[in-house]
Amino acid sequence: MRQLFSLENILENTHLAEICQNLASRAVIITDSNVEKLYGKAIKKALDAPIIAFPAGEQSKTRVTKEMIEDQMLESGMGRDSCIVALGGGVVTDLAGYVAATYCRGIPFLSIPTTLLAMVDASIGGKTGVNVPQGKNLIGAFHPAHSIIIDVKFLRTLSLDEYRNGLAEVVKHGLICDLEYFSEIEAHLDEIMARDEARLQSIVKRSYEIKSGIVSADEKEAGFRRILNFGHTIAHAIEIVSDYKISHGHAVAIGCIVEAFQAMRLGHLDQDEFLRIVWVFKALGFPLDLQLSPEPLLKVMGMDKKSLKGVPRFVMLEELGKVLPFDGEFCTTLSPELVEDALQWMCHDLPRY
Ligand SMILES: NC(=O)c1ccc[n+]([C@@H]2O[C@H](COP(=O)([O-])OP(=O)(O)OC[C@H]3O[C@@H](n4cnc5c(N)ncnc54)[C@H](O)[C@@H]3O)[C@@H](O)[C@H]2O)c1
Ligand SMILES: [Zn+2]
Repeated sequence: MRQLFSLENILENTHLAEICQNLASRAVIITDSNVEKLYGKAIKKALDAPIIAFPAGEQSKTRVTKEMIEDQMLESGMGRDSCIVALGGGVVTDLAGYVAATYCRGIPFLSIPTTLLAMVDASIGGKTGVNVPQGKNLIGAFHPAHSIIIDVKFLRTLSLDEYRNGLAEVVKHGLICDLEYFSEIEAHLDEIMARDEARLQSIVKRSYEIKSGIVSADEKEAGFRRILNFGHTIAHAIEIVSDYKISHGHAVAIGCIVEAFQAMRLGHLDQDEFLRIVWVFKALGFPLDLQLSPEPLLKVMGMDKKSLKGVPRFVMLEELGKVLPFDGEFCTTLSPELVEDALQWMCHDLPRY
C-alpha cells in the first residue's frame, strides 16, 4: 500500500487519472450524497468515470446499499478489470472497500478520504464492512486500499463536529505511542483549530505512520493492535448509554481523559501529565459535561469487545506516549471500585475543569 500526499488540489492534478489507468481499464467513483454535491463535478472532470452516490450517513452502511452499488456496477458492465475510487468519509471507504473486496471476487480500490477521521483512522488498516441490526461492522472483509490519496484541502468544508471526531483519534495516537507528537499537538492547538494546511499535513502524515505501524506490527490481531483502543472502553459505554447521540469522537475524547485518570490513580501518570491531557481535549472544544450518570454506564461497561466474561478491560497508559504491555495483552481489568470511582469523577468533577 502506498500513500500520496498532495499539496495541490488532488482533483485538479493528473495523478489520479494516471493511478487509475495503471490499475484497471475502467473506474467507478463511489461517494455519498454530501460529498457528491461538494466534489462530484471536480472528480468527474479529473477521472471521466461514472459516479454512484448513496445517501450520506451511517444508516447507509448496510448490505442493502452494497447490493444497490453492485447492481449498478453490474448493469454498466463493469468486470474484473475495473477499480473503485472511494471518495468520502469512513462510511464511504468502509462500504466501497467492502464492495471492492467481493465484486468479481475482489477488485482494487483507491481511497480518497475526505474527513479527518477517514484520513487518520478508517482508511488505514484494511478493515472494510457494513453494519447489521445486530451490531456495527459485523459483516466485512480485510481488503486494504491499493493507495490512499490525501488532500487536506477537503477538510475546509467539513463541519466542526466532524472535524473534532477525527481530532480525538489524533490526540489518542500521540498518547499511546508518541510523546513528541502529543507535544506538537499541544503546542499548535490554534493552528489545528484554524485548520492550517501545513499543520494538517504534518498531523495526518504522523497519524498515518502511527496507525499503519501498529496494524502492520500486529497483522493477526494478537494483542498489540489493542493499544488503538485506548479510551474506547469508556467511549463505547458512553455511546451506548447516550443511544449514539454523543459522537464517537466526543466519547473517545472523554474516554481518553477518564482512562488517563485511572492510570493516574494507579500511580502510572503524574498529575501534571494527566492535566495536560484534560487541557488539550478542552482546548480542542470537546464539552466535558456529558450529562450522564455513572450507574447506566457501569451496566453496559462489560459489552466492550475487549471484555473477558463480561468484565471490562482497559488499555492503560504507563506515561504520556507509552502504554503498559500486560504480558502482550495490552489491556487489563481494574478493580470495580476504581472503575466506579473514575465514572463518578467523570460525571461529577470533570465538568468543573
Ligand atoms: N475501517 C476502519 O478501520 C474504521 C476505523 C474507524 C472508523 N470507521 C468507520 O468510519 C465511519 C465514520 O467515518 P466518518 O466520521 O468519516 O463519517 P462519514 O463518512 O459519515 O462522514 C461524516 C459526514 O461528513 C460528510 N463529509 C465527508 N467529507 C466531507 C467534506 N470534505 N466536507 C463536508 N462534509 C463531508 C459526510 O457526507 C457525512 O455526512 C464509521 O462507519 C466507522 O465505523 C472504520
Ligand atoms: Zn475510535
